[in-house]
Amino acid sequence: MLTLWLKAFHVIGVVTWFAGLFYLPRLFVYHAEATEGVIRDRLKVMERRLLVMTHIGGALAIVFGIATLASEPFYLRAGWLHVKLVLVLLLVIYHGMLVKLTRDFATGRCTWSSRALRWFNEAPGVLLLVIVILAVVKPF
Ligand code: HEM
Repeated sequence: MLTLWLKAFHVIGVVTWFAGLFYLPRLFVYHAEATEGVIRDRLKVMERRLLVMTHIGGALAIVFGIATLASEPFYLRAGWLHVKLVLVLLLVIYHGMLVKLTRDFATGRCTWSSRALRWFNEAPGVLLLVIVILAVVKPF
């Protein structure tokens, strides 16, 4: 029963985290293409606030994921979970890149093209697809 509660909050954290992982890089695309200062200033505020929500979602997903793991020792022997954790590490690295890009846009130092940012924006979708299949189907 406890595991189910922990898992519920884990999934709530994952959904919140992904709202930011999907939409923050999309804001960067608009930012890189914006020509008016007033629009860039508005985007800076939106990016800063969305980053805070992304931190909260990421922290909830990881804390409740680890708590779910700790509540049932047999998870530690599951092959799918080991692969999932490697992919979660990639998500954490991606999150770190969002922090850096938010800072660079805030100070006008971002050199990424909007095309590169559009490709960058695809990565969390691919990771989400694989991680959810691993967690739900548990193929190995
Ligand atoms: C440190 C990070 C994480 C840990 C330790 C962790 C651990 C776990 C554990 C132990 C379960 C329970 C599996 C089960 O009972 O079937 C679970 C479920 C789940 N996890 Fe994670 N997880 C983490 C991050 C993530 C991320 C980033 C995502 C999404 C991209 C995710 C998506 C899911 C989903 C959808 C379930 C529900 C599976 C089901 O009920 O069938 N997890 N996680």
